[in-house]
Amino acid sequence: MAKETALITGASSGIGLEFAKLFAADGSDLVIVARREERLKEIAEELSSAHGITVHVLAKDLSKPKAPEEIFSHLTKEKIQIDVLVNNAGFGKKEVFSETDKEMHLDMLQVNVTALTHLTKLFLTGMLERGYGGILNVGSLAGFQPGPNLAVYFASKAYVLSFTEALSEEIKNPDIKISCFAPGPVRTEFGEKSELADSLLFKISLMDSAPAVKAGYEGFRKGQTIVIPGIKQQLVPFFNRITPRFMIRKLAKRLNT
Ligand SMILES: NC(=O)c1ccc[n+]([C@@H]2O[C@H](COP(=O)([O-])OP(=O)(O)OC[C@H]3O[C@@H](n4cnc5c(N)ncnc54)[C@H](OP(=O)(O)O)[C@@H]3O)[C@@H](O)[C@H]2O)c1
Repeated sequence: MAKETALITGASSGIGLEFAKLFAADGSDLVIVARREERLKEIAEELSSAHGITVHVLAKDLSKPKAPEEIFSHLTKEKIQIDVLVNNAGFGKKEVFSETDKEMHLDMLQVNVTALTHLTKLFLTGMLERGYGGILNVGSLAGFQPGPNLAVYFASKAYVLSFTEALSEEIKNPDIKISCFAPGPVRTEFGEKSELADSLLFKISLMDSAPAVKAGYEGFRKGQTIVIPGIKQQLVPFFNRITPRFMIRKLAKRLNT
């Protein structure tokens, strides 16, 4: 089989960067996407010299509706075939919905939901024609319950989980792997940017990014539909199923404070 190329969004830091390192260590060529171009170039330099792979840098703002189409046409023009798409770029912010600027929420939905769906649509077609490939969507444990104080973020991750699960059931070819990586809190820039770093949620269940992402990578390679790193974290969906919904909402609000 020809050498695999993985496109990773949000590869300039955190979880996306860890995924880039794991794909690179396994010899995959990469296309890395984010807004911070200089940082992407440094990462490209580092990974290509460490692993002898080709890394293509694409600086794009995924809150812009045209970005997925621009990425796809650029790669088509350059004749770069994408075998694995890692939809990782995303952000959240602690806020009370009614008191928050609408632009921030619309951008969040564009990046976390619409760009992820658009990129999946664009790249999945080629994977189906070739009969192999993979889509690894980065959701969150947040997708398993409502999230007062981060209402839009939690809802966006519920979409990612639901969409990815449905897709994995529709696509019956075992050579096309469809996986949702759904971690709880992970030590990245997200904690500070979302203002969740001092929340109870982060205090009780923060994981380092390298082991968390390694579990996500291995689960994806094995074809697991949902991958939750950490034993405590794996109990959350079960706990949510046996707990009355009103209690889950109240607990989530407390944890997000
Ligand atoms: N850390 C956690 O606790 C945690 C838990 C569960 C799920 N997640 C999910 O994991 C994913 C990665 O987050 P992280 O924890 O690694 O946080 P991070 O360190 O802040 O990384 C976020 C990445 O997304 C990129 N990004 C954000 N907005 C973008 C935009 N408009 N256009 C293009 N790229 C954009 C950032 O790149 P630029 O700033 O350079 O554009 C960065 O590379 C997100 O989907 C997040 O929701 C995180």
